[in-house]
Amino acid sequence: VFHVKHETPSALRFLDAALADAAARDLLRERPPPSFDAKSFCSNDYLGLADALAPPHPAGAGASRLVSGDRQEHADLETAAAALVGQDAALVFTSGYAANVGVLSALAGPEDTIVSDALNHASIIDGARLSRARVLVVPHADVGAVRAALCRPRPGRAFVVTESYFSMDGDGPDLQALRAAADAADAALVVDEAHALGVFGPGGAGLCAQAGIVADVVVGTFGKAFGAGGAFVAGPPPLARWLWNRARSFVFSTGLSPAVAAAALANIRTAAGEPERRARVLENARFFRAALEEVGVRPLGFGPIVPWVIGEPAPAMRAAAALRNLGLDVRAIRPPSVAPGTARLRLTVTARHAEADLAQAARRIGEVAAKLR
Ligand SMILES: Cc1ncc(COP(=O)(O)O)c(C=O)c1O
Repeated sequence: VFHVKHETPSALRFLDAALADAAARDLLRERPPPSFDAKSFCSNDYLGLADALAPPHPAGAGASRLVSGDRQEHADLETAAAALVGQDAALVFTSGYAANVGVLSALAGPEDTIVSDALNHASIIDGARLSRARVLVVPHADVGAVRAALCRPRPGRAFVVTESYFSMDGDGPDLQALRAAADAADAALVVDEAHALGVFGPGGAGLCAQAGIVADVVVGTFGKAFGAGGAFVAGPPPLARWLWNRARSFVFSTGLSPAVAAAALANIRTAAGEPERRARVLENARFFRAALEEVGVRPLGFGPIVPWVIGEPAPAMRAAAALRNLGLDVRAIRPPSVAPGTARLRLTVTARHAEADLAQAARRIGEVAAKLR
């Protein structure tokens, strides 16, 4: 065995101090405790599909799809994804993170402008940065601010990018107004439907479909309501061809595992064939939100992401631990995932919860909330 002991270089010696500093501020993340309950309140498996056994398909693509890793499983999944969101073409990525980083950096360049919601996911922020476009960050869900940003003189193309259902806030922008603002400025509307697909809209087609608008570019993931993994970008056919050529997180990366692609497709079909899962999660979300209000906890937003903002990281961590001791699998979300001073419990409801689970959870959350006051 070739092991030569050597001194840690000074370039890495900051790590102990930096980790201790994060710990002192209650911001250190460690490997989380194992989820002890299929009916946890912290998973994105909204339709209860993640435990479905995947049909047997090859484990690996073996190479980038541009080289020799392109498989029928990818093509089938792309057809289904494009159809789901009413777009003509889609390209499958290995994750939503890779999809957002790839699409924004492939579409925008230094001459261009990206108008980005202040609460957009880290992958959108990173994609916008990588594009080297001018990024105008607008206050959350503020269509007036988007309009104002689009009025600023600009040399190149303009893109408005938003989530349709915000992952940490459980809310979303007025998509009709956003569509109109983008149209008025000849800007492209890019909508990340990661947490909305499978849950909202006709047939689970998402919040754009529910609002009756069509985005120019849609990002969706298969790792949340569809219980598998991977993601897609959908839009007009030239978009998919351009991404195939220029989205670096697609080009320079092994293709999505065919087994995962097949699992995602099977779960999309199950979701379509069993609409009661979608009805259940939406009804559960309504029931749980009402039960929380009854015990004096006012969550943000609407739908199955139910954020209870506590404030500082330490009490949020204490509340999560107290709930875990009461048998509820709940996790605290702290900066930098959310803004300083808005640490929260991000409670999620799925189709697997029974009303009795939700009623009991709300009572326990009420007890813990009373102790925090
Ligand atoms: C809005 C949004 N976009 C993209 C992603 C990334 O998706 P993935 O987990 O597939 O990388 C997430 C969550 O992780 C998300 O919440």
